[in-house]
Amino acid sequence: MRISVVVDGTRYTDDVEPRTLLVHYLRERIGKVGTVSGCDTSNCGACTVHLDGRSVKSCSVLAVQADGHEVTTIEGLARDGRLHPVQEAFHEHHALQCGYCTPGMIMQSVDLLGENPDPDEQEIREGLEGNLCRCTGYQNIVRAVQDAAGRMHEQSAARSGG
Ligand code: FES
Ligand code: FES
Repeated sequence: MRISVVVDGTRYTDDVEPRTLLVHYLRERIGKVGTVSGCDTSNCGACTVHLDGRSVKSCSVLAVQADGHEVTTIEGLARDGRLHPVQEAFHEHHALQCGYCTPGMIMQSVDLLGENPDPDEQEIREGLEGNLCRCTGYQNIVRAVQDAAGRMHEQSAARSGG
């Protein structure tokens, strides 16, 4: 089937097998290898991307379901050579060790902060419960998301002149 999908701001038109998973399309057809596959059974969250601005596990979405839609991957999050505030906060708070969960964790965190700009610790833990990390114990991830929330407030205040 022919699909046309915008990924990280670029339109791609390709013929895909109807059974192709979005995660495999992203990695193998268009080279977006920042999105990783951990389980392929929608358990780990490592493959999380945004579909029309909301997070989805790309191993549970068919590439054909993305036809006509917009996908953002971890590689599209940085803009104009600047990391996204959530990426900066993960880096500064050492919110990763092996890094395997990190792309999905960051994409889910961005979605979470879009829905709830001031989450408390419990809300962050609940918002990320579909994303598994076997290394960090989650504490630094929670700190990073809290810090990112502050950074995003500062950025929007600066943009609005306040
Ligand atoms: Fe998609 Fe694990 S690879 S949730
Ligand atoms: Fe290794 Fe999260 S940093 S799985």
